[in-house]
Amino acid sequence: MHNKNSSRHETRKRDQIFLLTSSNPDPNPYLTPKPLHSLSPTPNPSAMNSLQSFLAVAPVKPAAAAARLPSSRRARVSACLATPAPAPTAPAAARRELSAASRAVMADEAKYIVGTYKRAQVVFVAGRGCKLYDIDGREYLDMAAGIAVNALGHGDPDVDAAAADQRGRLVHASNVGYTVPQVELAKRLVEASFADRAFFANSGTEANEAAIKFARKYQRVAHPNGDAPTEFMSFTNCFHGRTIGSLALTSKVQYREPFEPVMPGSTFVEYGNLEEAKKVIQSGKIAAVFVEPVQGEGGIHSATKEFLQGLRDACDEAGALLVFDEVQCGLGRTGYLWAHEVYGVLPDIMTLAKPLANGLPIGVALVTEKVAAAIHYGDHGTTFGGGPFVCHAALATLDKIQKPGFLAEVTKKGEYFKQLLKTKLGGNPHVKEIRGAGLIVGIELDVPAGPLVDACLDAGVFLLTAGKGNVVRLVPALIVSEKELEQAAEVIRECLPALEASTS
Ligand SMILES: Cc1ncc(COP(=O)(O)O)c(C=O)c1O
Repeated sequence: MHNKNSSRHETRKRDQIFLLTSSNPDPNPYLTPKPLHSLSPTPNPSAMNSLQSFLAVAPVKPAAAAARLPSSRRARVSACLATPAPAPTAPAAARRELSAASRAVMADEAKYIVGTYKRAQVVFVAGRGCKLYDIDGREYLDMAAGIAVNALGHGDPDVDAAAADQRGRLVHASNVGYTVPQVELAKRLVEASFADRAFFANSGTEANEAAIKFARKYQRVAHPNGDAPTEFMSFTNCFHGRTIGSLALTSKVQYREPFEPVMPGSTFVEYGNLEEAKKVIQSGKIAAVFVEPVQGEGGIHSATKEFLQGLRDACDEAGALLVFDEVQCGLGRTGYLWAHEVYGVLPDIMTLAKPLANGLPIGVALVTEKVAAAIHYGDHGTTFGGGPFVCHAALATLDKIQKPGFLAEVTKKGEYFKQLLKTKLGGNPHVKEIRGAGLIVGIELDVPAGPLVDACLDAGVFLLTAGKGNVVRLVPALIVSEKELEQAAEVIRECLPALEASTS
């Protein structure tokens, strides 16, 4: 199915692989990432901290980096550095050896950063397209895209140019005055969706906090006698964020319990259980129902039309608002601009974030006029939200995602990928299900996915987990090529023995 590339293309690709040291300039900035040393500030021996000193070292020649490794590991590393990747000859469970540079960054992280993240054992310093590069010059096929963020891949030339252009004019001015990119972005989002108005924030959780507050305020205005419903309903396996309000709607107990009391008045119902959901909504206590049309963190579960339509009807009857959290599944990831489009069901509020500015922090709550009418000056706000820099980058991102044919390609690649994975992995006894929509794909296992994800990292493919840690989550950039999808599927297949090693 994939386009067999010409040898000229292969040569060009190989040039890219050695891009981190290349002195052979390519006129296309997308194909010519900066050398490693140019990513760091000018070395100043007296001022450099240890991280800077690693970034400032002479660029590592990938081949040389591989040569420093024990011979048993060279094949695997060179597989990361050269495409097409030669088929590994040994099971992919062999670990990469961490360089002194990587270990030093990890040690400083452990010393200076609050320990909220159990990180993958890799230090990324550069990215181009669907490739990431570590501090030693190794290349990784990025099937995570910054957790479904870099929709157009790393270093998209048009988004970069838009950001550079806006950076030169105005980066921040607050919401005290008007700024052009914010208004333009709101108009674009409204014109492309069910919504009438937008509120800009800086992240997914903040977009959901806005939705929570707007729902409360809407109900207060709709019930002037003081009997406004104030509670919320969400679903098992859902993820809506980590701030106290969004956290109260996030199902994972481990995320909530250490911080209780979180916002009171939230009820969780099994995702897809319409009858239970209706009972809760009909109680009359629910201000709004939060639901992801396709759950990401929770393990890649898609809603059915009947479920979303049933929620819509029950909310309409009870006067509750319906909020679609499309922070992860929205903006083209499912092959539709909005994940809910395929169901033909519309929300009152939709929250977006991750891919909207292709990596710059942004969040937005899109609302209907009936919701917006309840919100007045001073009801909500943010210093950074909707700044001109990020909004200008978001407009450039939208330009590409909305280009005719772009979303059809996402659908086509998603179907191809799922089929490939089914063919290559379907026979493995640990693989329970391969599911998803467009380029949000999950491989559910009957064992923890961690060892497989680690083995794939060693083999040069960067993946995420989801669900209860038993799902491999694949959310590559939407520009990923069929060839890259084939490479990912093949490496996952080759690394499956890591699951045996972990269960024996
Ligand atoms: C569906 C959904 N909602 C909200 C969030 C929170 O977004 P953020 O991490 O930007 O606060 C996430 C993050 O993964 C998400 O997947």
